[in-house]
Amino acid sequence: MDSLLSVCDIKEEVSYIIDLAIKIKAGEAEDKPLKGKTLAMIFQKSSTRTRVSFDVGMYQLGGRGIFLSSNDLQMGRGEPILDTAKVLSRFVDGIMIRAIEHRDVVELAKYSEVPVISGLTNLEHPCQALADMLTIKEHFGSFENKKICFVGDGNNVCNSLLLIAPLLGMDMSVACPKGYEPDEDILKIANEYANENNTEITISDDIDVVLSNVDVVYTDVWVSMGDEAEKAQREKDLAPYQVNQQLMDIANEGAIFMHCLPAVRGQEVSADVIDGSQSVIYDQAENRLHAQKAVLYHYLKD
Ligand code: CP
Ligand code: NVA
Repeated sequence: MDSLLSVCDIKEEVSYIIDLAIKIKAGEAEDKPLKGKTLAMIFQKSSTRTRVSFDVGMYQLGGRGIFLSSNDLQMGRGEPILDTAKVLSRFVDGIMIRAIEHRDVVELAKYSEVPVISGLTNLEHPCQALADMLTIKEHFGSFENKKICFVGDGNNVCNSLLLIAPLLGMDMSVACPKGYEPDEDILKIANEYANENNTEITISDDIDVVLSNVDVVYTDVWVSMGDEAEKAQREKDLAPYQVNQQLMDIANEGAIFMHCLPAVRGQEVSADVIDGSQSVIYDQAENRLHAQKAVLYHYLKD
């Protein structure tokens, strides 16, 4: 059964999904294509955007979402992932899961008889990356000659962006302190994609170098869900990587600021930048809905 656990799973379909999302957003797609379909939505971590956009997305497509907090599921009391996957597959047409451990989502998908869609793990956030690329395409018209820079912690959001950017023909750079680099295995695959698509990936701790000629400046929290024990150390190490106006001024004229949200103003981004004219954060958040409706259509439509 096809599932979306990583950007790698939609290597061939990325452009099609983004173009479908544009059509859906414009109201030009089939009406209620998922009539009668149900999506189980398992959350092991908090969420505002992912939860609401998947739920509303299913409703708008004619189906319904069922919110399942892992605390209330038997899975939270130790029921095996195998049984959870097999049983849910008898009731629903798809499973969306936000999980602590990526390997648990891989296991769920292994035993599920319906598509599994990741709504974030410690390793990746593929639906976020799709919404981000939709936002970039809408803003600039195309990905041609556009370069994205991720500043800060090389986390799950950064990993998915590293995989999706080369697939769409974009160069990507990451500015992060030593010890906060993106996942090694992801980086290896991202470099393969970059070679195949004639694009470049640069990882450096030198912000000035990495930010030159950049059209999109992207950052995310320094303390992701699950990293709370390292809060003090992370805030210290990442402090020089705050995206502020001085940093934005290094980027190209017309550059935009992006953040997956939730954000901490005064930490990874200054308030004047995130609330300023270059910021597209609310379009980006809205696009979660449109991008995920395209994903749901692709995976759940008969
Ligand atoms: N960006 C994102 O996934 O937000 P939530 O944690 O609110 O779902
Ligand atoms: N990197 C963040 C993203 C939240 C949407 C986290 O994992 O907490």
